[in-house]
Amino acid sequence: MSNNLLTVAYIAASALFILSLGGLSNQETARRGNMFGIAGMAIAFIATALSSQVTGYTTLVGAIIPGAIIGSVLAARVAMTSMPELVAILHSFVGLAAVLVGFANYLQPESGLVGAEATIHEIEIYIGIFIGAVTFTGSIIAFGKLSAMIGSKPLLLPARHLLNIAMLVGTVILGVEFMGAENGLQPLLIMTAIACVLGVHLVMAIGGADMPVVISMLNSYSGWAAAAAGFMLSNDVLIITGALVGSSGAILSYIMCAAMNRSFISVILGGFGEGSNKSTGSGEKKSYGEATITNVEETVELLNDAKSVVIVPGYGMAVAQAQHMVSDVTKILRKRGKEVRFGIHPVAGRMPGHMNVLLAEANVPYDIVLEMEEINEDFSDTDVVLVVGANDTVNPSALDDPDSPIAGMPVMEVWNAQNVVVMKRSLGIGYAGVDNPLFYNDNTLMLLGDAKTNVGAILGELSASEKKELVAA
Ligand code: TAP
Repeated sequence: MSNNLLTVAYIAASALFILSLGGLSNQETARRGNMFGIAGMAIAFIATALSSQVTGYTTLVGAIIPGAIIGSVLAARVAMTSMPELVAILHSFVGLAAVLVGFANYLQPESGLVGAEATIHEIEIYIGIFIGAVTFTGSIIAFGKLSAMIGSKPLLLPARHLLNIAMLVGTVILGVEFMGAENGLQPLLIMTAIACVLGVHLVMAIGGADMPVVISMLNSYSGWAAAAAGFMLSNDVLIITGALVGSSGAILSYIMCAAMNRSFISVILGGFGEGSNKSTGSGEKKSYGEATITNVEETVELLNDAKSVVIVPGYGMAVAQAQHMVSDVTKILRKRGKEVRFGIHPVAGRMPGHMNVLLAEANVPYDIVLEMEEINEDFSDTDVVLVVGANDTVNPSALDDPDSPIAGMPVMEVWNAQNVVVMKRSLGIGYAGVDNPLFYNDNTLMLLGDAKTNVGAILGELSASEKKELVAA
């Protein structure tokens, strides 16, 4: 393929990536955005494979075929609830790729670069390997935490900030040594080892409820690692894609921090300036009194009497795969003239937009799905709130217990409604590992059991009474 054609293909791919991001920002255009992304990636991939720089087709095919098979099988098999783990491990591959590209570039016998160009190339390699190594090990730890192989409690070493600063200073000193050396392999290898430890330490220090920000931050790092690899390889489309992923990931992290009332810097540095005086959520059992247990019949009665209903879904709805039944219950209630809306917390579930994706899959109309800040004020005028498998995101201690690990995080203020029915299997904790006083409130009823079974039973009762009404009419 000629260089001109390659440039045209790269421009087309870059434009498609930008259209893709634009499409993904809205539920109604998300599918189209995804298609743009796939088309852009296919063009970039084919154009690169056919470019004059690529000659080793046997090696390329030998790597692509097993990679494509493993990738397709994993993506087809992964459960929606395990998607964040898959994303985290894929980020680690991007980081590792940047490290390997960096070393390959450095070890390449003749780069043909001299003077300032050679210096810039060495800086690209050094920074690319550093970001890649932090992303690689940080993403592996994030994968471990999300899949519960590693506990979600933060590891807070006594002098952890000093340790981070020492590692950064060491990286800079080694960088100076690397730049001035005839053979800089040794400082490069030592810096890579330090960056790997830094990645582990940064993510280990982050607690359960702050993990969403870390995932999106690692997404951003993986973008910058890809951009750095693009500079090393002089590949424009990799630079553009990396910058798009890097900046959008950083913006998303910032938005999440704002939504969770967390300081961006404090989360990235592993709870800088906080955490030490906060309980970790385990061990200290407070007494909140007795919870009131309810059943399906009583819940249906409440729904029958209600004029306005708000459904607040959480991770448990995803685990139970109850979204289709929730959607059917919504249809019946709306047909009976009740106002039914959904309230979505920005970090409900295990990835950004998790609940929105599930509700869209179950064909819940977009206009009744509201964000937390759009619905929070309306709870006091709501007759019944159905909490379906949510826990941390409806925990009042985030607002009234300054010692709680989730203190300061805005939550869905469901307790202001007339009646709250919480569907989960037990009175146990959620992702952040903290008890939830909501379960013990006077106006809260606990409908214990699998969310799909219980929503299915509610649906059964509602449809049966609907049929009876039809026969009577
Ligand atoms: P969680 O606090 O994780 O609670 C989910 C609840 O669902 C659990 O307490 C569990 O209680 C219940 N559950 C599990 N399986 C169920 C089933 N089959 N049927 C009924 N209930 C079931 O959920 P949330 O309110 O959505 O909050 C999300 C949490 O995850 C936050 O702490 C957030 O910071 C964190 N997080 C979010 C993300 C993103 S980006 N969204 C990423 C990583 C972490 P039982 O065991 O008693 O049933």
